[in-house]
Amino acid sequence: MKISVIGCGYLGAVHAAAMAELGHEVIGIDVDPAKIAQLSVGSAPFFEPGLPEVLTSALASGRLRFSTDIAEAADAQMHFVAVGTPQKVGSYAADLSYVDAAVTALLPHLAPGSLVVGKSTVPVGTAARLAALIEASDSGASLAWNPEFLREGFAVQDTLTPDRLVYGVPSGAAGEHATALLNEVYAVAIAADTPLVVTDYATAELVKVSANAFLATKISFINAMAEIAEVTGADVTQLADAIGFDDRIGRKFLGAGVGFGGGCLPKDIRAFTARAEELGKGESIAFLKEVDKINLRRRQRVVDLTIAALGDHVYTSKVAVLGLSFKPHSDDVRDSPSLDVAVQLHGLGVDVVATDPQAIENARVRHPQLRYEDSLEETLRGADVVVLVTEWPEFRTLDPVWAGSLVRTQVVVDGRNSYDPSAWRDAGWAYHGLGRP
Ligand code: UDX
Repeated sequence: MKISVIGCGYLGAVHAAAMAELGHEVIGIDVDPAKIAQLSVGSAPFFEPGLPEVLTSALASGRLRFSTDIAEAADAQMHFVAVGTPQKVGSYAADLSYVDAAVTALLPHLAPGSLVVGKSTVPVGTAARLAALIEASDSGASLAWNPEFLREGFAVQDTLTPDRLVYGVPSGAAGEHATALLNEVYAVAIAADTPLVVTDYATAELVKVSANAFLATKISFINAMAEIAEVTGADVTQLADAIGFDDRIGRKFLGAGVGFGGGCLPKDIRAFTARAEELGKGESIAFLKEVDKINLRRRQRVVDLTIAALGDHVYTSKVAVLGLSFKPHSDDVRDSPSLDVAVQLHGLGVDVVATDPQAIENARVRHPQLRYEDSLEETLRGADVVVLVTEWPEFRTLDPVWAGSLVRTQVVVDGRNSYDPSAWRDAGWAYHGLGRP
């Protein structure tokens, strides 16, 4: 099928490449000429494992092109809208200006029978509003909402082999038409018996935000237990193992630590809160404000533990911060707890040296005041406290004896509970985890 993907960020670039890989003829559109130039030569504008390979093979097949000109999307039968919905400045609500601009720009190019497919995460009610806009354009096109559940770091795999498909479609014949077209586009996943939920717009929109709200709540739940563990001497990692054996609970997303970040969970729970308040149902999800607060307190806890370890030497000490991206296998520093910890420590007068395998350049753009170092060895050399905040494999497997030979003082703050405390203590370190004795 001929398809267009509007917006070539973390979501759209992967979607465009993956759809071409699946055999469709794809044009990726973005307003940023630099991004389009880069993608056109098969270079990914951000770090995502597997993306360069899929991009290169899709471009070589001739089925993938990129352009800044939305008119080139005109002959596509399906238009995926994959632009960002960041948090509005000064508000909890989502900024829908990019979604609105994308759909408005598409209107003059929509052919009869074509389908606009929203993939961006939006407040419930957005799809109905956009469907009315498309209807009023008399283009003969219609709208479906097809939320995306990909995880950064696994985005290619999650797009090629999704764990579920959700279609929000209008009722009647228009809905049947939209479902048939989406089934054609996702034929490979459908043939593999991927669970499919065909529903209305509101449900499809809510599936996405409630999935992210649930994941955020699960992480904050275990981090709240970490706070209780800290005043009782309990060990939250053992607690998580023990409750995780109950398959109604499950061990996934019970990793206590510095908390969640990234371009999705934090802003999605805030936008959901704002939307519920608009709908007069703020109290139904008021607990998400607590989820957010618990999450932000864990960043503070890592800063406090580090400052306490430095004692009277805050201004004369070096702190090595391991990790800047919001999670491993990503260069994304949007709302990253790791970068936040580094910035806060620097603001308190500490000499911070931070390293990350992929995210240094993105971090530097946002916070040029920090000192960055490519080499792990140089980051550790002469440090008074080592703070692990993003559990990249090379940091998780750090040898405490080798690290101990480089630092000035052997103190580690393990912001992801990634280390074996006894191995580090045996190697002479003072070990501080989160919610662990
Ligand atoms: C998330 C959802 O998982 C995905 O389905 C949705 O499409 C987009 O948002 P992503 O932002 O890529 O994906 O990251 P995810 O793997 O969910 O991690 C989010 C954050 O939670 C990270 O900062 C991670 O470090 C943190 N986390 C995760 C924990 O602190 N503890 C855990 O146990 C798991």
